[in-house]
Amino acid sequence: TGGITTIDPGYKNTGSCESAITFLDGEKGILRYRGYSIEELAEKADFLEVCFLLIFGELPTEEQLSKFDKDIKEESQVDEDMKKILDGFPKSAHPMGVLSSLTSALIAFNPGSVDVDSEEEMYGAIVKILAKFPVLAAWTMRKRKSLPLDYGDNSLGYVENLHKMMFAKPNETYVANKIVNEALDKLLILHADHEQNCSTSTVRIVGSSHAGLFASLSAGISALWGPLHGGANQAVIEMLEAIKEDGGDTAKYIAKAKDKNDPFRLMGFGHRVYKNFDPRAKIIKKAADEVLGDLGIEDPVLDIAKGLAEVALKDEYFVQRKLYPNVDFYSGIIYRALGIPTEMFTVMFALGRLPGWIAQWREMRLRKEPIGRPRQIYIGENLRAFKEISER
Ligand code: SDX
Repeated sequence: TGGITTIDPGYKNTGSCESAITFLDGEKGILRYRGYSIEELAEKADFLEVCFLLIFGELPTEEQLSKFDKDIKEESQVDEDMKKILDGFPKSAHPMGVLSSLTSALIAFNPGSVDVDSEEEMYGAIVKILAKFPVLAAWTMRKRKSLPLDYGDNSLGYVENLHKMMFAKPNETYVANKIVNEALDKLLILHADHEQNCSTSTVRIVGSSHAGLFASLSAGISALWGPLHGGANQAVIEMLEAIKEDGGDTAKYIAKAKDKNDPFRLMGFGHRVYKNFDPRAKIIKKAADEVLGDLGIEDPVLDIAKGLAEVALKDEYFVQRKLYPNVDFYSGIIYRALGIPTEMFTVMFALGRLPGWIAQWREMRLRKEPIGRPRQIYIGENLRAFKEISER
């Protein structure tokens, strides 16, 4: 067993690295990117600024931001042959599986982005993926809606352009909606990084073998897809819809969540780190009221969500286990109000998390971290002799 005497399932008490990117305090509900509070960044920064901050460590000057924006725009073309890969998927394919595959396929069209050792080679790969990832993410939505792909418009801002590629109608002039784009920008900022969560740890460990940035991101997308992680935002809306169909009977679902014999969990509730509240959930809950108000949308599912949270937060089972709404609990309600289909919610999470994954990969590579290779405690068979099939 190589001297291993204890294991730590789910790494609940294991630190995997030193990092200067994101600070979390689970007891106090604190989240900071490079020392700046999430509350300030969500209010005062825009997503591209936060991308720069997370990846390079400082808020950009005017000049740095415009160069970053220009470098990204120069890379915003995706090779036309990539469409043949998209065409190969059935319309029913889940967008997260398509996005992970397309991100990995990008390697074949950008071979120089794999073996990056110098900072400038890393920068080249970073601006390439920041430019092409939103295109691929928008493709996944156009495919499901049988809409022709949209090439975007480099005169628009980063988030506006993403929205255009997702929603522009082929026979109409695209008109940006300020409320929608501000809401989208805020949501992407709130999802941008979260220290060593499951998908980020995946990006780091795949990157630690020097498989390259795009391959590491493709693996991170797959990890995020799971309903216990980023996939929860889709599962929350499906749960709230089910409760609505069930006549809004939240008590029944609370009881199911508490029943040890029932695998059902209250999706969007609980967190490995936050044991009081998820600061992002607080901001998103407030933003949901604002955005739906501004857009004049009444969504009964928001009321069900609020009702569910109210009951759960007073229930001994949840209080005792310190289970509170997390980032995924209210985010889907805003995505819905923005006209984003439920199966695209986790793609939106991935779009937000992209700069965090990139920053953590870059930090791991610049610090020359060793390849990730944990040990185990063997509990299998002792040595035994081979048996011919006639003797088995
Ligand atoms: C994200 O790590 C990150 O930072 C992730 C993330 C990020 O930004 O990257 O914040 C994004 O993934 C948020 C979490 C989204 N997932 C969900 O909302 C799915 C529902 N939540 C749970 O599955 C759970 O709370 C986790 C996965 C979030 C955390 O799981 P843990 O820390 O492994 O806790 P656990 O499963 O050991 O649960 C502890 C107890 C258990 O009860 P007992 O066995 O002690 O009696 O709490 C119970 C669990 O059964 N429990 C729940 C519950 N979550 C935990 N019971 C009912 N409903 C729930 N949601």
